[in-house]
Amino acid sequence: MAAPAPSLHPQSLNILHLEDSELDHQLVCRALLKEKFPFQITRVDALDDFSRQLSQQPFDVILADYRLPGFTALDAWAALKASGVRLPFILLSGAIGEPAAVAAIQLGISDYLPKDKLQNLARVIASALEVFKAKAAEARAVSELAASEQRLAQFAQHLQTAIENERAAIAREIHDDIGGSLAAVRLDLAWIARHSEATDMREHVSTANDMLQHAIGASQRIMMNLRPAILDQGLYPAIQWLAESFQRRSGVKTSLVCNQPGMQSSKPIQLTAYRTAQEALTNISKYANCTEVKMDLSDAEGVLTLEISDNGGGISDAALNNPAAFGIRGLKERAKVAGGWLDISTRPGRGTTVILNIPLDGDSRSPTEADFL
Ligand SMILES: Nc1ncnc2c1ncn2[C@@H]1O[C@H](COP(=O)(O)OP(=O)(O)OP(=O)(O)O)[C@@H](O)[C@H]1O
Ligand SMILES: [Mg+2]
Repeated sequence: MAAPAPSLHPQSLNILHLEDSELDHQLVCRALLKEKFPFQITRVDALDDFSRQLSQQPFDVILADYRLPGFTALDAWAALKASGVRLPFILLSGAIGEPAAVAAIQLGISDYLPKDKLQNLARVIASALEVFKAKAAEARAVSELAASEQRLAQFAQHLQTAIENERAAIAREIHDDIGGSLAAVRLDLAWIARHSEATDMREHVSTANDMLQHAIGASQRIMMNLRPAILDQGLYPAIQWLAESFQRRSGVKTSLVCNQPGMQSSKPIQLTAYRTAQEALTNISKYANCTEVKMDLSDAEGVLTLEISDNGGGISDAALNNPAAFGIRGLKERAKVAGGWLDISTRPGRGTTVILNIPLDGDSRSPTEADFL
C-alpha cells in the first residue's frame, strides 16, 4: 500500500508489519495515512515469512504485535538479530504490560506503543528512526576510530622496524667501511714507527696513534648505540653494560639488580628492554638532576619486568604530555608491539620510575625485529 508524500516525511518508508489481525493492520495503515506518513507496508503473521521478507526486501522499520500464533515478538527479535539485518523494531501491542515492554526495550527493541495510542505511531516511528540513525553513526564512528588506531599501531610497528633496520645498516657500514679503514691506518702507522729512526717522526706517529685510538673508540661506541651487539651475550649483561657506561659518563651512582641473570627471552623482547633502558637513562642524564639511579631486571611468573628509578626532580604532567616529546611515547608503542606495557610513576621532587612489563609466553609479536641482531 502506498501513500502520497507529505513535506514532513520526504522519503517513503518500507515497513514490515508482524501482525496476525488484518483489522489491526488496517488500523495501523489508517493511522499513518491520517498523519500523511508516506509508506509501503508488508504484513506477515508467521516467523518463517518474517525471516524470508527480511532477506528479500530492504525495510526501514519493523512494527510487531507482541503475541502471535505460536511465537512472540521476542522470537522475531531474535530472528532479526540472527539475520544480521539491523532495523528499528517497534512493539505495537495491547496485550503486554508495561514491565514486559520495559524488559523488551532493555533487550534492545527500539520502542513500545500500545495499540490504543495509534495516533502517536508516526511520531514514534520518526523518533525510533532518528535514534537508530544516531546509534548507527556512533557505531560507525567507533569502528572507524578502532580501525584508525589499528592503522596507527601498525604504522608505529613499521616505523620501529624501519628504524632498527636502518640503524643496523648504518652500524654495518661503520664497521665494514670506517672500521676497516681505521684498522688499515693503524697497521700503516705501526709500519712507519718500525721503519723510522727520526724522533720527530716517531712523536707524530704516536700522536696520530692516539687520535686513531680515539676514532676507533668513538666508532665502536656509535656502533654499539646503533646495534647493541652486546645483546648477543644476553639481556642482563647488556643492561649491566648500559648501567656501567651511564655511571662512568654521568658520575651518577647506578646500580642494577637481577633475580635471574641467565634469563631467556626472544630477541625482539631483549631489544625492547634494551631500548627502554637506553631512553630512560638518556632522559635521566638530560632532565632528572639526580644523585642515584636504581635498575631492577626480573623475570617473575613469566613476566619480564625492567624498572629504572631515579631520585631526581620528577616529571610534570605538562612535560609528560608534551606533544613534541617522542621518547616515552615511543617506548609505550614499542612495549605494546612486544605484547607488553610501559608505566611511568613520578611525583614532582620525588623522582621517576619507568616500568616495562612484557609477558614472556607467546612472545613473538614482531618477528622481523629478530633479524636485526
Ligand atoms: N627521568 C626524568 N626526570 C625528569 N624529567 C623527565 C625524565 N624523563 C623524562 N622527563 C621529562 O619528560 C619529558 C618527556 O620525555 P620524552 O623522553 O618523551 O621526550 P624528550 O626526551 O623531551 O624528547 P625525545 O625523547 O623525543 O628526544 C621530557 O621532556 C622531560 O621534561
Ligand atoms: Mg627522551
